[in-house]
Amino acid sequence: MKSLIMKRVALAALAMVALAPGALGDDVPFARPPLEKSLDTYLISLGDIMSAAQLRHIKLWQAIKAKNWGLVNFEATLLEDGFAAAAMLYRNIPIEFVTEAAKPLEALKDGAAAKDPVKLAKSFTELTAACNACHEAGEVGFVKIQTPTSSPFTNQNFAPERK
Ligand code: HEC
Repeated sequence: MKSLIMKRVALAALAMVALAPGALGDDVPFARPPLEKSLDTYLISLGDIMSAAQLRHIKLWQAIKAKNWGLVNFEATLLEDGFAAAAMLYRNIPIEFVTEAAKPLEALKDGAAAKDPVKLAKSFTELTAACNACHEAGEVGFVKIQTPTSSPFTNQNFAPERK
C-alpha cells in the first residue's frame, strides 16, 4: 500500500502538471514560477502583482497631483512591497531591474516627506521609465506604461486629510 507521503508526492506531481503555467508563463522568462508550486500553495501570478502595480501607479500620480503626501508615501511603499514580492517569488527577474524601480520609489517617499512637487514629478517619470525598462528586458515591451491622463478611481477622494 502506498504511504500517505507517496500519495501526497503523486498528487503534488499531478498538481504541478495541472497547474503548469500557461503559454504566457512559458513565453515570458521573468514570469516563470518557482518549482515548488503545488496544490498546497497559492502563488500570486506576476501579472496580478503587476496589475496591482498599475493601479498604484495611477493612485500615486493622483496623490502627487492632489498634494496628498501621506498617500504618496503609502502607495510608494505598497509598490515597493509588490516589487520585493515579485523579486522573491520570480527569481528569474534580474535584481537590477527591481532596484532601478526601488530608487525612484525611495525618492518619491523622500519627496513626500519634503513636500516637494518638483522632486515628485521627476521621480514619477523615472519610476515609469523603470517600469518600461524591465518590460523591455523581460520580453513584454508591448506593456508600455505612461503618465496617466485620467483616473478611474472616482470612488476615492484624493484630497489630503484635514487635521
Ligand atoms: C523588475 C521588472 C518589472 C518592473 C520593475 C515592472 N514590471 Fe510590470 N511586468 C513585468 C513582467 C515580467 C511582466 C509580464 C508578466 C507575465 O507575463 O505574467 C509585467 C507585466 C505588467 C503588466 C501587464 C499585466 C496585465 O495583466 O496586463 C502591467 C500593467 C505592468 N507590468 C505594470 C507595471 C508598472 C505600472 C510598473 C512600474 C510601476 C511595472 N510594471 C514595473 C516586469 C516588471
